Amino acid sequence: MSDMNRRDFVQSLPVLSTRLALGVATGPLVALSACGGMPYLAPRGPRERLVVDAAEVPATGALLQRPGLEFPVFLRQGEQGGYTGLLLRCTHQGCQPDPVGDRFICPCHGSEFDWEGAVLQGPAERPLARYLVTREGKDLVLTLQGEGR
Ligand code: FES
Repeated sequence: MSDMNRRDFVQSLPVLSTRLALGVATGPLVALSACGGMPYLAPRGPRERLVVDAAEVPATGALLQRPGLEFPVFLRQGEQGGYTGLLLRCTHQGCQPDPVGDRFICPCHGSEFDWEGAVLQGPAERPLARYLVTREGKDLVLTLQGEGR
């Protein structure tokens, strides 16, 4: 168990019991836990098209994660009202950057990214993959763009 990382643990959870425990099958999204003060939400839909209730997303942002998603997705509303969706898979060698203060820091080789996914410090040279975020009624729909697909 000590060799199991967060991703392995999440992927090992039985999908049905997790959905029932979270209330995903019957009700609104529920925070799983928090990482760096940022809550986790369980989105609906396939990896390429994630759906969350806009009312469930705190102003400070949330990490979308559930069994079947290899990496969490950062979702946050900007000052202009638009939303940013970022796949938290480092563009250097594929580790998962963690939220630390005002940025994401990759634990593998130290790359840093800002809240928009831009590289602040290498060795990563490319920004984090983005999701297009659109509004459909009360829902936010995230569609994975570009090379993150
Ligand atoms: Fe992220 Fe190398 S995998 S810095």
